[in-house]
Amino acid sequence: MSTSATPPTSHAKLLAWVEKVKALCAPDDVYWCDGSEEEYDRLCAEMVESGTLIKLNQEKRPGCFLARSDPDDVARVEDRTFICTENVEDAGPTNNWTNPGEMRRTLNGLFTGCMKGRTLYVIPYSMGPLGSPIAHIGVQITDSAYAVVNMKIMARMGRGVLDVLGDDGDFVPCLHSVGAPLEAGQQDAIWPCNDTKYIVHFPESREIWSFGSGYGGNALLGKKCFALRIASAMAKDEGWLAEHMLILGLESPEGEKTYVAAAFPSACGKTNLAMLIPPQGLDGWKVWTVGDDIAWIKPGKDGKFHAINPEAGYFGVAPGTSMKSNPSAMKMLDKNCIFTNVAMTDDGDVWWEEMDGPLPDHLIDWRGNDWTPDSKTPAAHPNARFTAPAAQCPSIDPAWNDPAGVPISAFIFGGRLSKTFPLVFQSFDWSHGVYLAATMGSEATAAAVNQADIRRDPMAMLPFCGYNMAEYWRHWLNIEDRITDLPLIFRVNWFRKDENGKFMWPGFGENMRVLKWIVDRVHDRAHAVESPFGMMPRHQDIVWQGLDYDAETFFKLMEVDRDAGLAEAEGQKELFKRFGAHLPKEMELQRELLIERLDRAPKVWKLAG
Ligand code: GTP
Ligand code: SPV
Ligand code: MN
Repeated sequence: MSTSATPPTSHAKLLAWVEKVKALCAPDDVYWCDGSEEEYDRLCAEMVESGTLIKLNQEKRPGCFLARSDPDDVARVEDRTFICTENVEDAGPTNNWTNPGEMRRTLNGLFTGCMKGRTLYVIPYSMGPLGSPIAHIGVQITDSAYAVVNMKIMARMGRGVLDVLGDDGDFVPCLHSVGAPLEAGQQDAIWPCNDTKYIVHFPESREIWSFGSGYGGNALLGKKCFALRIASAMAKDEGWLAEHMLILGLESPEGEKTYVAAAFPSACGKTNLAMLIPPQGLDGWKVWTVGDDIAWIKPGKDGKFHAINPEAGYFGVAPGTSMKSNPSAMKMLDKNCIFTNVAMTDDGDVWWEEMDGPLPDHLIDWRGNDWTPDSKTPAAHPNARFTAPAAQCPSIDPAWNDPAGVPISAFIFGGRLSKTFPLVFQSFDWSHGVYLAATMGSEATAAAVNQADIRRDPMAMLPFCGYNMAEYWRHWLNIEDRITDLPLIFRVNWFRKDENGKFMWPGFGENMRVLKWIVDRVHDRAHAVESPFGMMPRHQDIVWQGLDYDAETFFKLMEVDRDAGLAEAEGQKELFKRFGAHLPKEMELQRELLIERLDRAPKVWKLAG
């Protein structure tokens, strides 16, 4: 690859930043990405040549590649993620904090000469449709060609973005290095990275510095680093929301369309829900996908929230994805995808746990070793991912690219909770809804059965909030005043288990039954009854046609156990205590109201049969 002689922009601040980074990192070359197909193909071909990518069977998976990461670089690293603000309180007790001056010294040391022997790529990108009033621009500098091609799928990138940026547009500088300089003649690793990792955010100056990892959210800086951590801080200052939410459109048989946004922690089923296929009994309904991971939501002139998916692709968990669990995703993966850490079949196709079809006799596992059904380790890494262009999703919403976004009528919050929490309930009002979202928890891993500890994951933003979490709750409380047509707020839980540890709710497509009740509530045509937790559907308020589901099981699924509820309220004290004076008083008030309702409730509160 040759240096592009003249930078394709006259943006003085951008040019100066690139020069500064070049001087610091000492790359062999500087290359400005234009975002073209030709460029993407060339970079992929170079990575096939160097061994970083494997070209998959082009008959079965045209345009698809496989990457195998270093076994120690397979996921985001939360303990190496930092929010650096002048005052520790502005980062809050849930973020790792270091003084910005000290962190800058550390980073300057690490980045000095870190791109030796490599090319420095400049990636101008837009989170959201180019020029959308909800979108924002970032520029990532990286020494990873793998990051470049993934960014090409995940964001709008290249020339067009520089046009929108003009000579003095705002952008978030995002500096990334795998942290593996090459000495003259040194053979490169297939997946270069560094044992030392730093994923650092300066929300006050709106900067990102990421060192040492090439994987996912650590390296594709438009995603969690910009679109959530930095954007959440921007959103607080500017009066909007940047959330870890999927966005979907629900179209009734009559053609009425209702958009909802839903927050679930990582690996709790956002991609599945975003691409849901309505089950038998709700056949006339259509579900349209706008986004599966991140939503940017701004108050519109019409008094409603309008949301865009800032991303242009889906970076989804592969294991567990099948024609049964998510047929739309499977179709989306037919072509033009990058797979990372999945297994490879003998005929050069991909494979992962719970994929359709018979178990293959032989595979190459995600580490590149032979694998047979007798092997003790999984063939695909549990956090193996696909990178797929959003436009390939069969259920992609016609408005997914609309610069105006889509109007949001409801927010849904859900964790992985095997106990205590019913299938669905609605908040009594906005403030109660913010409390329900703020106190959400989720069990740490899919593998842990029943006894797993819940980790509080407010709004599914625990690892992604770029400032003090309690101030983020206050921001959510305050934003009520900026909206006349407030979305309703719901909690859901697909993961409640019975005494035998079995899921009580079939989930997946059947979740549509819950979504339909939510849509009916939005349009003020569904009944609900008050429970200690919130407003609940009665049995007859859910469509059961096409599902053989015992009414008794439903009542059990919706039960509120008084002692469990009180223990939950007690547990929330722990969470609230951490924030001291930052805690909005509404939160503690809501907690006390919950205790009062539980005190008045029977030992086991049940929906009337
Ligand atoms: P990130 O991309 O990490 O933010 O996560 P995500 O929320 O998109 O997670 P993903 O869709 O990969 O989560 C998949 C996991 O959720 C798998 O373990 C699925 O089995 C599980 N899952 C999804 N939907 C359901 C459901 O309705 N019921 C149950 N029981 N499990 C579900
Ligand atoms: C998540 O962990 O919530 C993800 C994957 O969506 S990553 O982009 O790696 O953060
Ligand atoms: Mn996510």
